[in-house]
Amino acid sequence: MHLLIIGAAGMIGRKLADNVCGKGTIGGRTVTRLTLADVSEPKVATNFKGERHSIVADLSSSGTAERLIEGRPDVIVHLAAIVSGEAEANFDKGYAINLDGTRSLLDAIRAIDGYVPRLVYASSLAVFGAPFPEQIGDEFHLTPLTSYGTQKAIGELLLDDYSRRGFLDGVGIRFPTICIRPGKPNAAASGFFSGILREPLNGLPAILPVPDTIRHWHASPRAAVGFIDHAAGLDTRLMGHRRNLTMPGVSATVGDQIAALRDIAGEKAVALIRREPDETIHRIVSGWARDFEAARARDLGFNAETSFHEIIQVYVDEELGGRLPF
Ligand SMILES: NC(=O)c1ccc[n+]([C@@H]2O[C@H](COP(=O)([O-])OP(=O)(O)OC[C@H]3O[C@@H](n4cnc5c(N)ncnc54)[C@H](O)[C@@H]3O)[C@@H](O)[C@H]2O)c1
Repeated sequence: MHLLIIGAAGMIGRKLADNVCGKGTIGGRTVTRLTLADVSEPKVATNFKGERHSIVADLSSSGTAERLIEGRPDVIVHLAAIVSGEAEANFDKGYAINLDGTRSLLDAIRAIDGYVPRLVYASSLAVFGAPFPEQIGDEFHLTPLTSYGTQKAIGELLLDDYSRRGFLDGVGIRFPTICIRPGKPNAAASGFFSGILREPLNGLPAILPVPDTIRHWHASPRAAVGFIDHAAGLDTRLMGHRRNLTMPGVSATVGDQIAALRDIAGEKAVALIRREPDETIHRIVSGWARDFEAARARDLGFNAETSFHEIIQVYVDEELGGRLPF
C-alpha cells in the first residue's frame, strides 16, 4: 500500500517515517510505497525496501494538495501545521496553513471520484479551553481559546463531515503534549516540560519557569507514533460519526516529572534544574487542561505510557542509547 506523510520533516513525522521504514508496515499493512512531504526537505530513511519519494511543497499553496495525492495514497497522515505560538502571533499564516491547507487536502481528495483514503489528522488538546473540570471526559465541548485551537477544532468538524459524506475515512487524534521532545530547546510556552528533563539527561542546565504544582497531560514520541499506527488500521465503523479522539496519556505535575528524573538519573541530574519563575509562562500553562479520561480512545485500543518513568525511559533508550550522564 501507499503511505503519504505530510509534515514528514517535523518531530512526529520523522519518528513516524523512521518507524515505518524500520518495520515496513503501518496499521498492520505492508507499505510498498512511501511519500514524505514537507516545506522543509524530509529525510528519507535508507533502510526502506519499497519505492520512496520525497516532496518539498507548501500545503497551503495552490495545487499542492492535488500534487501530493496524485499517486492515490491509501493512507494519508496529515501532520503539517504551525504551532500555537506562531499561529497566535501570525493570524493569517495560522489560518492559511492550519485551516486552508487542511481544507485544500480534504477537497483534493473529494474531487477524485471513488477515492476514499484513510486520513489520520493531527489535532490537539488546544481544542479545549478553560473553564473545565479537573478531568475532562470524552463528552466535553470544544471551546478553543487560541487561533491554533480554533483551526484544529474546525479541522475536526471537517473531518467528521467529509467522513460522514463518504469522501474520505478520517480519524482525528488529539495528541497529548509530546514529551520528551528531542533536539534543541524551542521557544514554545510548553518547551520547559521537555527541557527540564532533556537538558539534565544530557548533563546540561535547564530552567523551570513554573511552580512544581503545574499539572499537564503527556505522552512520549513513541506513543505518538503508536497512536498514528493504530489510527491507520482502525475499523472506523466502531467510531460512528464521531471521528476525533482524545488520546490517552499521563497526567503529571512538574513535581512528578522531577521525582521520576531523580529516580532514573539521580540527584546530580535534578540539581541542573534552576528555578526562574516566569509570570507569563505560568499564566499561559495555568489555563491548560490537566487530565483527561480518554476512555473512548482506550476502548478503541489506543495505548500510551502509564507513568512518567516510562516516558523518560523512552528518551533514554531512543535518544541516548540507554546511557545516562552521571
Ligand atoms: N508535538 C506535540 O506535542 C503536539 C501536540 C498536539 C498536536 N500536535 C500536532 O501534531 C502535528 C505534528 O507535530 P510536531 O510536534 O511534529 O510538529 P513540528 O512543528 O515538529 O512538525 C510540523 C511539520 O509541518 C511542516 N509544515 C508546516 N507548514 C507546512 C506547510 N504549509 N506545508 C507542508 N508542511 C508544513 C513543518 O515544516 C514541520 O516539519 C502538528 O499538526 C501539531 O499541531 C503536536
